This record gives sequence, C-alpha cells and structure tokens, in this order.
Amino acid sequence: MNRLQGKVAVITGASSGFGRATAKLFAKEGAKVVCSDIRPDMDPDNFDEDKVPTHEAIIRDGGEAVFIPCDIAEQDQVKNLFEKAVEAFGHIDILFANAGIFRAGVVTHRQPIEWLDDIYRINIRGTYMCCQEAIKQFLKQKTKASIVITCSTSNLNPYPIQAPYSMSKAAEAMLVRTLAIEYGRMGITTNGICPASSKTALLINNFKDDTIRERVNCRIPVGRWGEASDAANAALFLAEPASDFINGALLPVDGGDTNTVGIFPEYPME
Ligand SMILES: NC(=O)c1ccc[n+]([C@@H]2O[C@H](COP(=O)([O-])OP(=O)(O)OC[C@H]3O[C@@H](n4cnc5c(N)ncnc54)[C@H](O)[C@@H]3O)[C@@H](O)[C@H]2O)c1
Repeated sequence: MNRLQGKVAVITGASSGFGRATAKLFAKEGAKVVCSDIRPDMDPDNFDEDKVPTHEAIIRDGGEAVFIPCDIAEQDQVKNLFEKAVEAFGHIDILFANAGIFRAGVVTHRQPIEWLDDIYRINIRGTYMCCQEAIKQFLKQKTKASIVITCSTSNLNPYPIQAPYSMSKAAEAMLVRTLAIEYGRMGITTNGICPASSKTALLINNFKDDTIRERVNCRIPVGRWGEASDAANAALFLAEPASDFINGALLPVDGGDTNTVGIFPEYPME
C-alpha cells in the first residue's frame, strides 16, 4: 500500500485491459488517477468481471480519479488531456502511455495498408505526442517524474502475421531508450513494459481462431497467458519512486516467452 502516495498518474487506454488494471492498482497504492481513453465506458469484451467504468470503480473503492476523453491520435485532444489533468489535480508525476491497437492475422504481402496507417497514427504518433505533452509539464514542474510505455514482446522478438504492430512496438521501444537518455538528468525516467500475449480485449478480438491462439500461447514457458494484472504490477514497479535508478529498461512481462526458440504455425501465403 501507498507506494504511489501523493502522486498523480495519467493513464491512456484506461477503459480496458492493462490500462484499467493499472489505473485501479495505482489508485490502490495512493495515486490520484487521470483515466483517459476514447471511450469512458468499459469495453464490453473486457475480462474484468467488475463492469463499472474505471474512474467510477476507483472512486467507489475510496480512491481519487477523473475521466478525461482523448483520442491519442489527435494532437489537440492530447494537449487538452494534459491541460485538464493539471486542472484536476494540480500536477502530474507519472505517464502510463498505454493506449494502442493491434492488427494481425495474415502474412505481410496480404495485409491492407490501412493496418499500417492506423497503427502508425495511434501506437507511434499518439504515444509520441502523449510523451511530448507529459514532458513539457514535468519540465515546468521541475519535479521527479516517470514515464512507462506499454511496448510488447513483439519489440524483442519478431512474430509472423503482425509486421505493422511489431514495427510500431519497436518504435515505442526506441522512444523509451531515447527519452531515457534525453531527460534522465532532469529527473524524468522512461521505461517500457513488454508483455507477451495477454488476456485482454485487444488480443482476443484479433485472434478469433482458437488454433492460432493456442499455438501462439503454447510458447509461454510458465504455461499460461498473461493477465492484465501482470502488466499492472510491472508498470507499478517501474513507476514508483523506489525505481528511480531504472531508466531506459524494457522489462519483459512474458512468462519467459522471449527466451524460447520460436515455434510458429504455418500461415497460408494466399
Ligand atoms: N494484450 C496483449 O496481449 C498485449 C501484449 C503486449 C502489448 N500490448 C499493448 O498493451 C496496450 C494495451 O492493450 P490491452 O491489451 O490492454 O488492450 P485493450 O483493447 O483491452 O485496451 C486498449 C484500450 O486502448 C483504447 N484505445 C484504442 N485506441 C485509442 C486511441 N486512439 N486513443 C485513446 N485510447 C485508445 C481502447 O479504447 C481500449 O480501452 C496496447 O498498447 C497494446 O499494444 C498488449
């Protein structure tokens, strides 16, 4: 308890999956949480049995939270998110840049170009703009701060049928490492979590085919999918003040997946 007492955290993609679990955990640890997403309500396909929107669940459980809508692909909305967050709680100490989309299922030459365009707009450009606005605020405050970006095992190892997504996560990983060296001396640390396949709406909705799902996940040495709570625990560890000497790390949250030799199903070329 109280590992984030007195801290204010902005979390993107907070209405579902990793973002939602992390928002709830950060609040439990004493943070005031700015929950942001394109949707205030919870994704109906989410695996959290508690169906109350994230900020409402936090307030119900005695924590402090607000919801500020933001499509991270839109620069004016990103600027508005950080302005409103400061208005709500006076300052910001943590950015969990987590919102992202996934497209997968066919080999590269069969992928519609829109996959790449959408993923670029949200995962790369959106995450980049959130970091820009958070850093402007951190520098104004002159206080210690931390950024945690949700990367993926896809930026540690290649996986078939998802090149645009893996490319975007590799870009996010390089953003982590670049921000770490640019702003470390200003007391701003930046790290990434790299989750393996995890039970959230994002993955389940993209891998409808049970065979593919099972064969992808039989790779994970601990023998189970990731849960949203696994990512949340890792994000907490990297966000808390006790970790302020960790900077530029890309932490696998993967049950050992990235240590395995890839065994992939065969995918149709046509
Ligand atoms: N689930 C996995 O297996 C897995 C593995 C590695 C990394 N990730 C990454 O984790 C992050 C969170 O994904 P998740 O698995 O919790 O999925 P999720 O679909 O459960 O949650 C993603 C949230 O992001 C929001 N979002 C989507 N586009 C947005 C936009 N333009 N602006 C603001 N919010 C937007 C969605 O509304 C949703 O609430 C993503 O960056 C994803 O790439 C997921």
